[in-house]
Amino acid sequence: MIGVMSASGQLGVGVVGHLLRNGVAPTGLAALTRDPAKLGHFADLGVQVRPADYTDCASLSQAFRDVDSLVLIPTKSPVVRRIQEHANALEAARQAGVRRIILLSISAARPDSRSIVAPFYLYAESATRLSGMDWLILRMGLYLDPLVDWAPELAATGQLPYPVERGRVAYVVRDDVARAAAAAALSPGTRGEVLELTGPAAISMTELAADLSTATGREIRFQAVGEEAFLNICLQGGEPPLISQILISLYRAVDAGEFARATDHIERLTGTPARGALDYLTDVLSNISHTTRSTSA
Ligand SMILES: NC(=O)c1ccc[n+]([C@@H]2O[C@H](COP(=O)([O-])OP(=O)(O)OC[C@H]3O[C@@H](n4cnc5c(N)ncnc54)[C@H](OP(=O)(O)O)[C@@H]3O)[C@@H](O)[C@H]2O)c1
Repeated sequence: MIGVMSASGQLGVGVVGHLLRNGVAPTGLAALTRDPAKLGHFADLGVQVRPADYTDCASLSQAFRDVDSLVLIPTKSPVVRRIQEHANALEAARQAGVRRIILLSISAARPDSRSIVAPFYLYAESATRLSGMDWLILRMGLYLDPLVDWAPELAATGQLPYPVERGRVAYVVRDDVARAAAAAALSPGTRGEVLELTGPAAISMTELAADLSTATGREIRFQAVGEEAFLNICLQGGEPPLISQILISLYRAVDAGEFARATDHIERLTGTPARGALDYLTDVLSNISHTTRSTSA
């Protein structure tokens, strides 16, 4: 039995989907959420959709019964709360007899990180390694996907604003992270390792803007902005204040080179290379250029 925490989230839905696509019997999957009504589509397929709340140890113990491998996708709660959530999950997993933990962490899980979420990931990685269960840590790079929502606005203004001076990023596509996590859950031999789930190459913000230009058919130039200006952009775009502060700190980490390492670990786990920025953006944005062109025409 494979269990997936945060199975209703953008990443979790992808992990469960890839497990099913890889031939896992739905009855051998436990999709875990605080609100099982959200995952009716999985329940209809025969997946065991179980209630599980990271803040409620009893619900976790119940949810983890018969689970052998558990994919732990952390929440986006404030860092201190996340630490307790992860401690609860590990304790409940140990009590339920879970044999293997697959933890989704981030590339910036390092003691000198500029990111304000790094202390959580450092804790989560250490606690997982010390848990007594088999473990595998999958550190994600920064997702490319959020950029897609901004593409019409970026194409309209012709600017890609980030608070970055010189950092490069091996951006990764969320679906590649999901299929790598699913493959890892199905490979019991991968344990006691820290793998980095990144795109195939680290690119500069200028190169990212060029890829966006090609993908949208509109000229978009990178514009370095200060943190305050970037905060305003995030808040005006509807990002919650905590997530906006996290984003700013992640781009501080970008400038320090913390997301610049590109690996082939997605290919190693899945047999298929990770998608690059130009490939993904062109694919997803191919009709945005028509939309923006016809709007502005
Ligand atoms: N690498 C990157 O660039 C990047 C970008 C964004 C996010 N992330 C990370 O990726 C992970 C998943 O993000 P996402 O965007 O997929 O999340 P999301 O779509 O916002 O979903 C959040 C998930 O957290 C679950 N959750 C929240 N509080 C919970 C609780 N108390 N107990 C149990 N589950 C709880 C929710 O489940 P229910 O509400 O159904 O219970 C939901 O499944 C997070 O660790 C996030 O930090 C990485």
